Amino acid sequence: MPFRPTLIAALVLLCIGLCIGWILGGEEREAPPMPPPGPTPALPFQALQPLPPVPALPAERVALGERLFHETRLSHDNSLSCASCHDLAHGGADARPVSLGVRGQPGQRNAPTVFNASLNFVQFWDGRAGSLREQAAGPVHNPVEMASSWPEVLDKLRADASYREAFASAYGGPPTAEHIVDALASFEETLLTPDSPLDRFLRGEPGALDARQRAGLQRFIELGCVSCHQGVGIGGNMFQRFGVMEAPPPAVARDSGRQAVTGREADRGVFKVPGLRNVALTAPYFHDASAATLEDAVRTMARVQLGQDMAAQDVDLIVAFLHALTGRWQGQALQ
Ligand code: HEC
Ligand code: HEC
Repeated sequence: MPFRPTLIAALVLLCIGLCIGWILGGEEREAPPMPPPGPTPALPFQALQPLPPVPALPAERVALGERLFHETRLSHDNSLSCASCHDLAHGGADARPVSLGVRGQPGQRNAPTVFNASLNFVQFWDGRAGSLREQAAGPVHNPVEMASSWPEVLDKLRADASYREAFASAYGGPPTAEHIVDALASFEETLLTPDSPLDRFLRGEPGALDARQRAGLQRFIELGCVSCHQGVGIGGNMFQRFGVMEAPPPAVARDSGRQAVTGREADRGVFKVPGLRNVALTAPYFHDASAATLEDAVRTMARVQLGQDMAAQDVDLIVAFLHALTGRWQGQALQ
């Protein structure tokens, strides 16, 4: 039949057309769904959570805690307050490798920030204090920090009528060690720094992170940083050895870390994983300040914790992401 080849050709063409249509249509159907505008777009970062709101605590206790935080009479020679080493205008830490205590004595470790410290599961690099209330007595008594004692501090504060009044209205009694510690901790519990670009992103504002910061977040997750730096504090919720894949730089190995607290050999070189919120503001880095810049810290982490020589481009992206962890306090961007 003369029309048969034409019919077959037409059928073949029809089939090809249908197939192409089906493939394209199929591709359209199988395309990944657009990330929802809500809190969990395509990246699996439920491991990172936005900050809760600043808790509403009794205002008089918080105000008294703020005053005590800046009170130099907590130190033996009235020269240092908590704020001397935890400068709230400098990311809640100081810029020194190790802090200087009374009479300029150098301490052992780099001062961590007090911002968001209430989120830490334990306090100090080695976790030797279980809570902020337990922590606060430490610096007052530490001979190379404030070098004082509760009797000495209480004598000074009880001699001051304005403190007697402030303690009476906040706690219904005279200054006591317990109330000093409670007021300091209450103030510290208000030192949350919400509304960082990451928090806004996690709450469903995709544009809060720029493209490099989003790529940096992705690398932070893919490379495994998030397996240790996670949760609401982007850290601060576990202990880990500093030097999982490779020994850390020799300077770091001088501090036995958690081993000094537990006495267990297995805890040598183990430290609390620090929270990374506002980390761009708190150079130098690590418990011994052995990394001068964020780039240094990220490169060292990749090598000793993950066994990777990180490409320069990845270092830059992750550092860009870490800059997106800077939040706000009392309505102002932290500095
Ligand atoms: C001389 C400097 C200095 C002074 C003064 C000082 N600190 Fe610290 N602070 C440090 C250093 C250094 C560390 C880390 C020590 C360690 O981990 O062994 C630290 C740790 C902390 C931590 C733990 C944070 C974390 O992430 O583990 C908190 C909270 C804190 N200080 C609050 C205070 C308060 C409150 C005061 C006042 C009562 C105070 N500090 C006074 C230097 C100081
Ligand atoms: C196995 C757990 C682990 C992994 C994985 C890990 N870290 Fe860390 N990170 C730590 C510990 C522990 C410290 C504290 C080290 C010290 O000073 O003793 C730390 C410290 C840091 C610091 C310094 C913070 C400060 O305030 O001094 C930065 C920055 C950091 N890590 C970023 C990263 C990045 C980026 C990655 C991924 C490339 C990463 N970390 C992977 C456990 C980890």
